[in-house]
Amino acid sequence: MLYRHEKRHEVDDDGYLELVSETAVDTDRNSFQLVSRPPGWSTIFLTVSLLISLTLNSWWILLERISKVSNKEAISCSAPETQRSIYSGLTFDVPTRYSLHTDYSSSNQTLADYTWDNLNLDGMVIAPTLDWAREMGLPDSWDFPWDSNRKIYFVKVYHQLHCLKRIRTAFHELWSGQESTIIPAHIEHCLDTLRQDLMCKADDTPMPSLLAVNGAGDGQTLHCKNFDKLMAWTKHPDRDACYHRLNHDGPVRHAIERYAFCPPDSVHYAAMSRYFEEHGHYKDPV
Ligand SMILES: *[C@@H]1O[C@H](CO)[C@@H](O)[C@H](O)[C@H]1NC(C)=O
Repeated sequence: MLYRHEKRHEVDDDGYLELVSETAVDTDRNSFQLVSRPPGWSTIFLTVSLLISLTLNSWWILLERISKVSNKEAISCSAPETQRSIYSGLTFDVPTRYSLHTDYSSSNQTLADYTWDNLNLDGMVIAPTLDWAREMGLPDSWDFPWDSNRKIYFVKVYHQLHCLKRIRTAFHELWSGQESTIIPAHIEHCLDTLRQDLMCKADDTPMPSLLAVNGAGDGQTLHCKNFDKLMAWTKHPDRDACYHRLNHDGPVRHAIERYAFCPPDSVHYAAMSRYFEEHGHYKDPV
């Protein structure tokens, strides 16, 4: 009988459960006799057994909890496997030197501008299938213009970098005494989006500091995702949105132009070409 088997299983695993199930669940005569017998050696024996069993069980549960916790800690320290992204499959496996001085912060403004301008954000939008998005538990999103079985999603890090570029542009415009081309609300949005993302990931790496001002972390080796591989992931045919961010910092009137970069061997080339044959290209972004 299945019931017997289940009970036996409990008996094997756990003496305490055995007693509970015998007295509370079992309706056959022997069990009733066992419970209703007047107090004697067997009752004392059972009571002592119960107490020992309870104590052992408590210890066992406690020890198991402790070992589970320490296992978890050991894994997250030693293996980046647990931090592997469920989306791109990338993990923090590229040792990268953090440096206080890079071309992005060069005092040579030409070099700094050039470097920021060439920070490629074409991976910002991907167009995965509806099925994949559902499988990943992603909320609904806009339709991909060239295929209604696909949705577009914004990859977070590119959106974050886009925000950084926007803040930098506004800062430089205002710093040099010009009016900013970027509306203040966009900058406020960018500041708050970065705040939320930073607080969410809450990087707790302790940064060494031997300099008095702004020196923390210089020369420290960080473990980073491979940024080139992330771009390649966004451009894989499974999700390529033919998207170019374009080096155009001002507002774009015709956002569809950003999806106009399907190469002739792309499965979306025909749909894209049909659209532009019908509507023509706008000259807006460069
Ligand atoms: C500034 O950077 C640009 C671009 O790399 C370079 O051509 C130029 O020589 C640099 N200027 C100075 C003063 O170093």
